[in-house]
Amino acid sequence: MDKIVVEGGSRLVGEIKISGAKNAALPLLAAALLPTGPSTYKNVPLLQDVSTMGKLLRQLGCEVDGRRTMTIAPPPGKHPRGKHHYEAPYQLVKTMRASILVLGPLVARYGHGRVSLPGGCAIGARPIDQHLKGLEAMGAKVTLEHGYVDVSCKRLRGASIVCDVPTVTGCENLMMAAALAKGRTVIENAAREPEVEELALVLNKMGARIQGAGTHVITIEGVDELQPIEHAIVADRIEAGTFAVAAAITRGDLLLRGARAEHMDAMLSKLRAAGAHVTVEAGGVRVRGGGDLAPVDITTQPHPGFPTDMQAQFMVLAALADGQSVIKETIFENRFMHVPELARMGADIAVSGRVAVVRGGPKLSGAQVMATDLRASASLVLAGLVAGGKTEVLRVYHLDRGYEAIEKKLRAVGAKIKRAKA
Ligand code: EPZ
Repeated sequence: MDKIVVEGGSRLVGEIKISGAKNAALPLLAAALLPTGPSTYKNVPLLQDVSTMGKLLRQLGCEVDGRRTMTIAPPPGKHPRGKHHYEAPYQLVKTMRASILVLGPLVARYGHGRVSLPGGCAIGARPIDQHLKGLEAMGAKVTLEHGYVDVSCKRLRGASIVCDVPTVTGCENLMMAAALAKGRTVIENAAREPEVEELALVLNKMGARIQGAGTHVITIEGVDELQPIEHAIVADRIEAGTFAVAAAITRGDLLLRGARAEHMDAMLSKLRAAGAHVTVEAGGVRVRGGGDLAPVDITTQPHPGFPTDMQAQFMVLAALADGQSVIKETIFENRFMHVPELARMGADIAVSGRVAVVRGGPKLSGAQVMATDLRASASLVLAGLVAGGKTEVLRVYHLDRGYEAIEKKLRAVGAKIKRAKA
C-alpha cells in the first residue's frame, strides 16, 4: 500500500494540465455499449475507476483497447450471448459503485442487465431507487435478489419520469436507457451537472435525440439504433478545483490548462470571496493566491450550486482563513470524515450533523493521517502542502481512484511531495 509524503511550505507556481473528467469518463465508457460498433474516446484519464470500468466492460463481452485513447467494441447482436454478457459481478461492483452505469445501456441494447447492488460507501448509503423507478416506468421488470438487481425488458418504451432528487448517475442511466426506447421520455427534476451534458452531447453524436441536458427537464426521443463515435473527454472540473485551492492556500500562481471556467462558477466565486485572484485565459483558468485568506460559508448543492466533491478541499482553505467559516453538506450524510484527520493537523473544526464550523488559524502542523474516501484524501494532501513539517497520507488508493498522478503534477509546480511504500 502506498503513501504520499509532503513537506509543507512551497508556493506552487506554473502550469498543470487538467486530465479528462472521471465523472464524465465513467458514463461515457458505459454508453459505448449502446452503438452497433466500436467507439473511441480520447483524453481518457488514467485512473483506477476508469480501469475498473474497462475491466467491467470486458467482463460484459466488449473488446477494450488502449488507455489514454480507448476503443470499446460492444458484443454484436441484439441479445446477450450468455449470462456473462449482461451481469456486472459483485467482485467488480464492490470496488466501484459507478458500475451501476452499465445497467441502463445493457437493458436498452440487449434487453437484460444484472448488476450487483452497489451498496453504500464511506460517504453514504447511496441508494439507486431513482434509477430503478425510472427503468420500471419505461416498462422494465426489476427484481432484487441475492444482492443483485435484475432488470429486463424486450424493448423499453418512453415515459414521463420525475426524479425525487436530481441524481447525476440516475439521470445518466435513464438517458442512456431512453435513447433506444420506443417513444419519448421526459426526465423532470434532472441533474444539471456538466457531466450529464457531456453524456447527452455524446449520445446525440451517436444519433440519439436528446434535448434539455443541463436543465431540469431532459427530453429524449428514442431511436432504433445508435452509431459508434469518436470523442475527446471534457476536462475534470473537480481536479481543476482541487488544484485551484492549492494555488490559493500556498499563495501560488497556477494556470490550470484545459479547465473550463463555465463548469466551475460556484467554486471560483468562493475562491474569489476568500481573496484569491481568478482569471479566465485562453488556455484555461489561472488562480493566484492573494494575501490572508478570508473565511467563506459554503452549502453544497446540486449543480450549478457549490459541488459536494469540493467540500473537503475548501475545508482546508477555511482552516487557514482569518475567521470562522460554516460548511453545510446537504448531499451526502457522512462526508466529514476528513475532519478528524485535519484536526490531527491542528485544524479547529466543530461538527454537528451536516454542519461544520471551522475556526481558521494561522498554521497547520504536519502529521501522519489516513485517507478515508476520494475527496477527503485530496484535502489531506492540500493540508500537507501548507502544514509545518512533514505530512504522510496513508491509504492513497482512495486518491488514485480520482486523481491522475497527483504527486507528479504537484511536484512539477514546486511541491515537495513524493509517493512511497507505506
Ligand atoms: C455522482 O454520484 C458523482 N459520481 C459523485 O462524485 C458526486 O459526489 C455526486 O454525483 C453528486 O454530485 C459520479 O458521477 C460517478 P447522486 P451519484 O445520485 O450519481 C441521492 C466523486 O467524488 N440518491 O447525484 O452516486 C443520494 O443518496 C464522486 O467523484 C437517491 O436518494 O450521486 C445523494 O444524497 C463521489 N436515490 C443524492 O441523491 C438514487 O436513486 C445525490 O446523489 C440516487 C441518488
